[in-house]
Amino acid sequence: MTNAEARRPLHSSLLSLLLLLPSSFLTARAFLHPSFPSLSSTRMQTPTGRRHRTEGVRMAVGAKGEYAVTLLPGDGIGPEIMTATVGVLEVVAAKASFKFKFQDALIGGAALDAMDDPFPDTSLQACQSSDSVLLACIGGYKWDKNPREKRPETGLLKMRKTLGLFANLRPAKVLPQLVSASTLKPEVVSGVDIMVVRELTGDVYFGTPKGIRTGSDGEREGFNNMIYKESEIRRIAQVAYGVAEKRGKKLCSVDKANVLDVSQLWREVVTEEGLRHHPDVALEHMYVDNAAMQLIRNPKQFDTIVCGNLFGDILSDEASMLVGSLGMLPSASLGDPRGPGVFEPCHGSAPDIAGEDKANPLAMILSAAMMLRYDLSQPQAAEALEAAVERT
Ligand code: IPM
Ligand code: MG
Repeated sequence: MTNAEARRPLHSSLLSLLLLLPSSFLTARAFLHPSFPSLSSTRMQTPTGRRHRTEGVRMAVGAKGEYAVTLLPGDGIGPEIMTATVGVLEVVAAKASFKFKFQDALIGGAALDAMDDPFPDTSLQACQSSDSVLLACIGGYKWDKNPREKRPETGLLKMRKTLGLFANLRPAKVLPQLVSASTLKPEVVSGVDIMVVRELTGDVYFGTPKGIRTGSDGEREGFNNMIYKESEIRRIAQVAYGVAEKRGKKLCSVDKANVLDVSQLWREVVTEEGLRHHPDVALEHMYVDNAAMQLIRNPKQFDTIVCGNLFGDILSDEASMLVGSLGMLPSASLGDPRGPGVFEPCHGSAPDIAGEDKANPLAMILSAAMMLRYDLSQPQAAEALEAAVERT
């Protein structure tokens, strides 16, 4: 049985999505246009490595005939939305005359059940040997009481760290037809188009020392270290400026420099990086409490936001609510040029509806579009997929 035959049939909304792919996709014409590079001229496996710089963001795989993609379906609704997404990708690839070679690997609770490790080495190796990685979602009630090292989230953090995925791009774009889905007034949210660039492998998430200890007074205390090296700030700033340059040339850097030393360094380095290399991008600094408030009060003031791991975790959830639903938000995690990016929806594994064929796969499909754009050098296929989702 082929990969395609093994997948469940797509449900009706996905079929209509495929029908909505732009007509240019149904013919080879788009690909014969001079602005669309031919496969032979863009087989850019450089002699020194398999990636080349694209979009000012990172090194990506050059356009080619076949891409190896590792699928991490994870837990809960993960397997269903992954199946739906793979079906859509196979159609897009066939229309654009390239192929995918998919392999499945385990992460999260599924990996704990099978291998007692939330991100086993076999999964890491599968990811490392791929051009790109698609991840659905992880977690569930079953593993909620596990000790930290045996929790699904630990697998996710291990994956991010070991693959060097330091830059997390979370776009929050309000589609006109979904304006009413937001809890905020239509005039506040309509037209919102924000990109949150979240640092993903540093900060208090990974800082040491950390732990729970008993102090000399006999009382227990818990502690984590909010820490950033200058180089870590500089590289995420570079990504954020690159993204802002391709968007509205406006960057808002979020910190808590009025209180935290780590934020003071963050602010200095982000400013320096802009003055030196990106004078065309208008930089603004904002304290995180104010940013949380401004995102609700007047979200249209933001174009690109850059922040550390913890503030980015919080603000990206907040930004998602402008759109009305976490179920619509994709994300891209990028980093080490020698390895793949990981593309995943921002939502969780919704164990309460898992297996009922109710889950909305749009965020996963939009994540696949980000994969086509940022990792696989197939921007036209990405646009086609996004346009189809917007019209669904
Ligand atoms: C996210 C999630 C994760 C995070 C959790 C599941 C560890 O909330 O991707 O935003 O905090 O980064
Ligand atoms: Mg989060």
